[in-house]
Amino acid sequence: MAGARPQDGACTGRAREVVTAAMRALRFHVFGGPEVLRIDELDAPAPGDGEVLVEVHAGGLNFADTERRAGTYLADQPLPETSGFEAAGVVRDGPREWVGKRVAFVHPRAHAELCVVPIAKLIHLPDQLDFVTGAAFPLQALTAWHVLHTLGRVTEKDTVLIHAAAGGVGQLLVQLAREAGATVIGSVSRAAKFDVVKRRGAHHVLTRGPEFQQQLRELAPSGVNLLLEGLGADVDALTSLAPLGRWVTFGTAAGQPAPVTLESLYEKSVTVSAFWLRTEMPAHLREHATNEVLARLLDGRLQLETTTVPLEDAARAHRRLEGGLTVGKWVLTLR
Ligand SMILES: NC(=O)c1ccc[n+]([C@@H]2O[C@H](COP(=O)([O-])OP(=O)(O)OC[C@H]3O[C@@H](n4cnc5c(N)ncnc54)[C@H](OP(=O)(O)O)[C@@H]3O)[C@@H](O)[C@H]2O)c1
Repeated sequence: MAGARPQDGACTGRAREVVTAAMRALRFHVFGGPEVLRIDELDAPAPGDGEVLVEVHAGGLNFADTERRAGTYLADQPLPETSGFEAAGVVRDGPREWVGKRVAFVHPRAHAELCVVPIAKLIHLPDQLDFVTGAAFPLQALTAWHVLHTLGRVTEKDTVLIHAAAGGVGQLLVQLAREAGATVIGSVSRAAKFDVVKRRGAHHVLTRGPEFQQQLRELAPSGVNLLLEGLGADVDALTSLAPLGRWVTFGTAAGQPAPVTLESLYEKSVTVSAFWLRTEMPAHLREHATNEVLARLLDGRLQLETTTVPLEDAARAHRRLEGGLTVGKWVLTLR
């Protein structure tokens, strides 16, 4: 199901459906708070070789969007810049075999009505999945898959601690870890987020407060085997982990982590991995993850909790996201 190959083989040449001369894009001209976001009217971009033009219907919001807008994102970025890392829509211009296809993708500048996307990044969106789902899953669900399986190598023998388990990636990790047969412990910042984490299948949910390590010891006396976190700060991984434990870090939602020395890993023989979805990885790993995730979305093993917000309300959505006030995935609607 994954995607970079044309389906109907023989066709070459370009095709173009109706492409408007102008489009709206969510942009920022300076780095700052959500108030710097604005909707600009721009000329429609034109795809080059190996690219298509996608008419975007929905764009997934990610924590990284707020970091990019604030100027704290990992990668360099020019200004003015269009927001967004993922979206779903319909191909309107490009090689004939792609035009008219429903697609999802992870690619920068996705929160615009029209987006040029490399063909290698397109995922065929099955008809059974709507555009909101298509915009909601690629970045978070593929991250969750790779964190849990590619790097975490989860097994049914593992006790897994998932921090910020009610968040977008967090809810997906809980479901996938439970399906893999592991014992799942989720952490949240406040009790109001307990229910959703339980509903997603966690065996236990803990609040990250002063009692956290003590409560964790009651559940996992030697510590957990696998720790998955996108918090960065306030994790105290080496205390939470059991001997020979694995720690996969994938973000800094709570701030920059305290430095970890190699020396400190020896006592428990801990393995540390860091995951970034934009890392170049072998195509078969990408395809495998995409296929596994799509299969689970189609048969209901993976449930997404989505809240839709019109593009005009993007600043409000950014504010809630960076305040840690969202549950599940927020998606901007563009059509
Ligand atoms: N490496 C990658 O390729 C990749 C891909 C996707 C996401 N990520 C990262 O993974 C992390 C989670 O992403 P997500 O999309 O799941 O985000 P999300 O839905 O917004 O969840 C983030 C969670 O982090 C917790 N949090 C703790 N301190 C926070 C703070 N100061 N501000 C905001 N949230 C705070 C909140 O949960 P509690 O209330 O329970 O604390 C919040 O729900 C982020 O750091 C993101 O950048 C990385």
